[in-house]
Amino acid sequence: MDAGLAKKRKVDDNDDDCYLKENHDHDIPQLSLMFSLNQEVGTLARALKLFEDNNVNLLHIESRPSKSSKNEYEFLVTCEDTGKNLAPFIEKLKAKTSTVHTLARQPSKDAIPWFPRRIRDLDRFANQILSYGHELDSNHPGFTDPVYRARRKEFADIAFKYKHGEPIPRVTYTEDEIKTWTTIFNKLTELYPTHACSQYNHIFPLLVQNCGFKAGNIPQLQDVSNFLKDCTGFTLRPVAGLLSSRDFLAGLAFRVFHSTQYIRHGSAPMYTPEPDVCHELLGHVPLFADPVFAQFSQEIGLASLGSPDEYVEKLATCYWFTVEFGLCRQNNQLKAYGAGLLSSFGELQYCLSDKPKVLPFEPSKTAEQKYPITEFQPVYFESDSFEDAIEKMKTFAASIPRPFSVHYNPYTQTVEVLDKKDKLKDLATNIKGELITLIDAINKVQ
Ligand SMILES: [Fe+2]
Repeated sequence: MDAGLAKKRKVDDNDDDCYLKENHDHDIPQLSLMFSLNQEVGTLARALKLFEDNNVNLLHIESRPSKSSKNEYEFLVTCEDTGKNLAPFIEKLKAKTSTVHTLARQPSKDAIPWFPRRIRDLDRFANQILSYGHELDSNHPGFTDPVYRARRKEFADIAFKYKHGEPIPRVTYTEDEIKTWTTIFNKLTELYPTHACSQYNHIFPLLVQNCGFKAGNIPQLQDVSNFLKDCTGFTLRPVAGLLSSRDFLAGLAFRVFHSTQYIRHGSAPMYTPEPDVCHELLGHVPLFADPVFAQFSQEIGLASLGSPDEYVEKLATCYWFTVEFGLCRQNNQLKAYGAGLLSSFGELQYCLSDKPKVLPFEPSKTAEQKYPITEFQPVYFESDSFEDAIEKMKTFAASIPRPFSVHYNPYTQTVEVLDKKDKLKDLATNIKGELITLIDAINKVQ
């Protein structure tokens, strides 16, 4: 399972007590908030002054006596959501009031969902995680372990504070954590020569040489990120909790992979209900160092930007059956390239057995396939090659109803929206320059 592919969506904080009506018939994106105030004279005026001081345009306000406190009133307000980050304003509001709930963001009627244009826009996702890293389910192996939960909070805090461009803080892993890594590392490396695809087996020794992939040492994310950057331009950034599919896939458009840094609970080293650093490092990292696979991953990300929700879910399903659980055929033998397989001793053997069903990867069909999250997959999809998978993803992406195309500019690390003639001409000029270089090189290479 991946940090980016939580199948739940955040619902209103006060879902059962919400008197907000869905309304998309407006031209301006809107944000609705509810907050409580005591009945002292002037309290409301002081809270509303905050809206003015922060240039937040208030569109609607209504009030009712609080159900939870006799001395308070609850206020529902709707304001313009201008696209700038309202988080600092909401923090100031929280300082003035006893409770603040963000109820809903409502896009304008023709709005294209917001998406990051610059790589540093990914910093916004830290405020949009669906659950914080130490909030464990009751069936999590570490649920009743206060030491483990505190440790998870440390990792979540590192990621929450992280900003683009900073080095990822190095972590001193404990002896127990290193023991867990070593158990997993030793078991999985037995299988890679026979079960992993050729690209994985080509890159893995380079990670051993350059990034400290070995028993007795958990590699540091920053070292791995530096290695990936040299190979394909991919980088890692720490993530504090579960991201929505839209946010997670948007990171891939910039060749950024949101990675966990904590390790699973030591009581069950061969099981984790969620991605952990073993899954990221042993499952994902090697393939992100392969140029063709890196491009394939970025194509999924680029296709997701500004796409309607139902298409983001289709792309997330394609991601699931490729980057997480993909198989490929090499020398007429099935091999694993998906991170969910390469980080699971049990499923890596099972996926190449005769038990599961294996279908050809075809994005329009794969996108409709249902799948379990906590069990071995009953169905896998195989690709002939990553090049072939890229072609298919590009064809599928072109079928997404989106009134523009996007192009990634690696020099500025920005996504350019190709919706104006000037931008198309600029791109054509760049491609023409590349073609001249290519023709010149072809003429010179015999
Ligand atoms: Fe994953």
